[in-house]
Amino acid sequence: MQEQAVLKYNGVARTLHWIIALAIITEIVLGLGNDAFRDSFPAMPIHKAIGITILALSLFRLYWRISHPAPPLPAAMPRWQVGLAHGLHWLFYAMIIAVPMSGWIMSSAGPYPLQWLGLFDIPKWPVMKDSPLAEAAHAGHEVMGKLFIPLILLHVGAALYHQFVVRDGVLRRML
Ligand code: HEM
Ligand code: HEM
Repeated sequence: MQEQAVLKYNGVARTLHWIIALAIITEIVLGLGNDAFRDSFPAMPIHKAIGITILALSLFRLYWRISHPAPPLPAAMPRWQVGLAHGLHWLFYAMIIAVPMSGWIMSSAGPYPLQWLGLFDIPKWPVMKDSPLAEAAHAGHEVMGKLFIPLILLHVGAALYHQFVVRDGVLRRML
């Protein structure tokens, strides 16, 4: 561990990071496992409700991130790693909004009502079934939803590399 203070993300950023990370992983399992879960519990309505919640939290998180800059990365970190980290982080910000948004648009064109865990109705966008927008949202949702998996593995791999190989305390910035 280098002799330098570990600057942390603020509490709101850390809390939102872990809630959204857990929710995204749950979403991927529910989305890909939908057919397998079909007989045991209503995976898709839960997938939709969690997804809409992620969208709301992510919009607030993006606002919070823009108004509260991240702490500076360790000075010794190579520039390519800093660039890669920033690129991936901003891609994640785009995806945690675009993936649920595409799901919402796609489902608006579908026959099922949209409800938040049976508590209230989620409004539908005026999207026609089989319209180009509905089809693009569907394709985008599936591609980006699956793209999360290698990107999360890269992100977690980088965090573990910093923790156990470089030992520069980057993981603790988010704990
Ligand atoms: C960050 C949030 C979300 C993630 C990570 C996510 C991820 C996924 C994944 C990985 C799949 C499986 C794709 C495939 O089988 O190729 C899926 C399917 C699906 N998702 Fe999402 N999703 C999210 C939010 C939403 C939202 C908000 C809605 C709707 C309100 C939604 C509606 C659907 C539907 C209807 C399917 C089934 C598509 C089909 O099988 O044709 N998702 N999602
Ligand atoms: C599963 C979905 C995940 C998503 C979408 C995600 C997204 C993000 C984003 C957007 C940032 C940048 C924060 C900012 O600059 O405001 C970040 C930072 C970070 N994440 Fe994740 N994350 C996920 C999971 C994880 C997991 C499982 C770990 C633990 C191994 C982790 C460890 C970290 C760390 C240590 C940082 C701070 C990096 C730095 O100091 O610059 N993340 N994450």
